Amino acid sequence: MLILGIESSCDETAAAVVRDGREILSSVISSQIELHRPYGGVVPELASREHLEKIEPIVTEALSRAGIAMKEIDAIAVTQGPGLVGSLLVGVSYAKSLAFGLGIPIVGVNHIEGHVYSVAFDNPQVEYPAMALIVSGGHTNLFHIPEEGKYKVVSRTRDDAAGEAFDKVAKMLGLGYPGGPEIERLARSGETGKVKFVKAKISDGTPDFSFSGLKTAVSRHLAETPPESDQDAADLAAGFQDAVVTALVSTMEKQAAEYRPRTLIVAGGVACNLALREAAEKAAARLSLPVYFPSKHLSTDNAAMIAASGYFHLRLGQKAGLDLTADVTLRLQNIDLPVNGKASGRKRFRT
Ligand code: KG4
Ligand code: ZN
Repeated sequence: MLILGIESSCDETAAAVVRDGREILSSVISSQIELHRPYGGVVPELASREHLEKIEPIVTEALSRAGIAMKEIDAIAVTQGPGLVGSLLVGVSYAKSLAFGLGIPIVGVNHIEGHVYSVAFDNPQVEYPAMALIVSGGHTNLFHIPEEGKYKVVSRTRDDAAGEAFDKVAKMLGLGYPGGPEIERLARSGETGKVKFVKAKISDGTPDFSFSGLKTAVSRHLAETPPESDQDAADLAAGFQDAVVTALVSTMEKQAAEYRPRTLIVAGGVACNLALREAAEKAAARLSLPVYFPSKHLSTDNAAMIAASGYFHLRLGQKAGLDLTADVTLRLQNIDLPVNGKASGRKRFRT
């Protein structure tokens, strides 16, 4: 089955052609990083305007790189939410009109589930139960996945997402946007133990994550002991990165010991981070489990992962009707995708 995936939930306009959920024929991404860089973050209004301009050429490019004619596509998978409503609406409206014109099925995909499926391409088949740590600019969740398509959130962030913490701390250090890769680069020449940050404890004892205290601790450290050299700044970046990685991986390890998955998944933009990958690999080795990461270009937002997730739902006969619309509140917990066109009754934004 040839699926055209379309992703426009945040600041990447992306389209991909994927065969049977596992073989990428093409994956095209138009990033808006340069557009938003002067503002130090994504400006929603600018993002949706840019998606509107890019969506058609990006889809055309994906089809041409795949060597596929429009009429050869069997189905369309489009990100339905969560994300920025204006951005989501561009992808959803475009995908719906295309599906309607071609007379083919369309399925709305949860962006976070898309990240889970980003490991479908360069790894062996995921064995269930699985445990997935999804760490991006907008989300930080740890899922127990008892069987394919069923999700239970076992840990989530109480405040900032991990990527957001990287971005904010990078800003404090006067580094560029997005901050994750900048911090990682600086941390490489730093020493991890030089600046130590204590792990946030959630007062009600839940295994949730919290990164806003860490951000405040970095800000206090900067005010009290401003870095006097590049080495000081690098040590600070290394200490911060280590605190985030330790919080993420130690929680995943603890929860995995409890839920006993057969596969670990670490995905999302922050999964580009090598320190996180190494720590997750060590934890997986201690648990004698395989850990799968997406290849680097599939860690950040892309449409191949949306097509892979869509393939799973389409095979189950789940498809949307023409009332499909963006849903910024979409959650990946006991998701109820509309089956055979029946609406799910969630809060909707009309297209
Ligand atoms: O998945 P993604 O492209 O978009 C969202 O769905 O949010 O993730 C983007 C996030 C940004 O916050 C960025 O700073 C972070 O991923 N990121 C990294 C690295 N590369 C990207 N964080 C830490 N280390 C990296 N190497
Ligand atoms: Zn994402």
